[in-house]
Amino acid sequence: MAIAKENIRPESMVRITNSDLASKFIESQIVALKEQIGNGKVILALSGGVDSSVTAALLIKAIGKNLTCIHVNHGLLRKGEPEQVIKVFKEELNADLIYVDATDRFLDKLANVNDPEKKRKIIGAEFIEVFNEEARKLAKDGNYKFLAQGTIYPDILESDGVKAHHNVGGLPEGVSFELVEPVKFLYKDEVRVVGKALGLPDSMVYRQPFPGPGLGVRCTGAITRDRLNALREADAIVREEIGKLNPTPWQYFVTVPDLKSTGIKDGKRIEGWAVIIRCVDTVDAITATVPEIPYTVLKHITDRILKEVSGVNRVLYDLSPKPIATIEWE
Ligand code: XMP
Repeated sequence: MAIAKENIRPESMVRITNSDLASKFIESQIVALKEQIGNGKVILALSGGVDSSVTAALLIKAIGKNLTCIHVNHGLLRKGEPEQVIKVFKEELNADLIYVDATDRFLDKLANVNDPEKKRKIIGAEFIEVFNEEARKLAKDGNYKFLAQGTIYPDILESDGVKAHHNVGGLPEGVSFELVEPVKFLYKDEVRVVGKALGLPDSMVYRQPFPGPGLGVRCTGAITRDRLNALREADAIVREEIGKLNPTPWQYFVTVPDLKSTGIKDGKRIEGWAVIIRCVDTVDAITATVPEIPYTVLKHITDRILKEVSGVNRVLYDLSPKPIATIEWE
């Protein structure tokens, strides 16, 4: 599909590679955003990922409280993520932030659903529904005329709809918004440079890629709350320990399949889940290799997970490259 003229990055645009260039970009965007938005109000779905976070931080600089961020917690976020969004945006940047904990809605809809594609569809559709409910409430105040999105240039080039489904939320029915997309000409590395210059924390700016359906694709098969909790706790341990390596792998996380195996505790047989550690190095996520992780690190992670995460009795390291395996298990 041909890219619309207004979505083609201007040839004259220099690549943003350092903080000076980022500051110039920020200044020019503030002027452009003020001009586009005037006294109008803007809604933004803030996932906590780098693209929507940088978009939000730019808008806060340009229009302050005329931006309303909506952070939907679908219950499939990693440990500490909603708390970080609230801390950075509400407490530090003084943003107008609506936090919606929709965990029960999502997990109820996902109960007993095994099929991976069905799970993805439910999560995407429910996300849009929750976001639209909030947007409709806001739109009653006729000043909300704009919808901001963290679209970046690869989204335009790829136009695969991933953003539209997982990160954005779509337009509420019967309400039309003008789009505000201040980082749509930036590549990922430039978004990060701008994020640093805006003062966002490294953990947000250099956050590893995280699927829109979140931990839902890592809790394979039908999601249960107890297995999801085990997954979230084990993932936090892996992120903490692998995060100490230098360099860190491109992506590192855990999957907890819907599978139990026999174990033994206090002389009794007990069934438990297996936590699978997944680390990959890649440039574009199309192919990926598995980095060598020092045995002592893997051993330490295993000890911690088995001690700290209830319901788990095995820890494995996935050595499969892409292809033939995909990065995610589901
Ligand atoms: P796979 O599993 O296809 O993953 O090798 C490639 C990259 O894409 C991420 N991924 C997703 N991202 N929605 C997303 O936004 C999804 O449904 C999804 N599935 C996989 C994955 O984490 C990896 O970085």
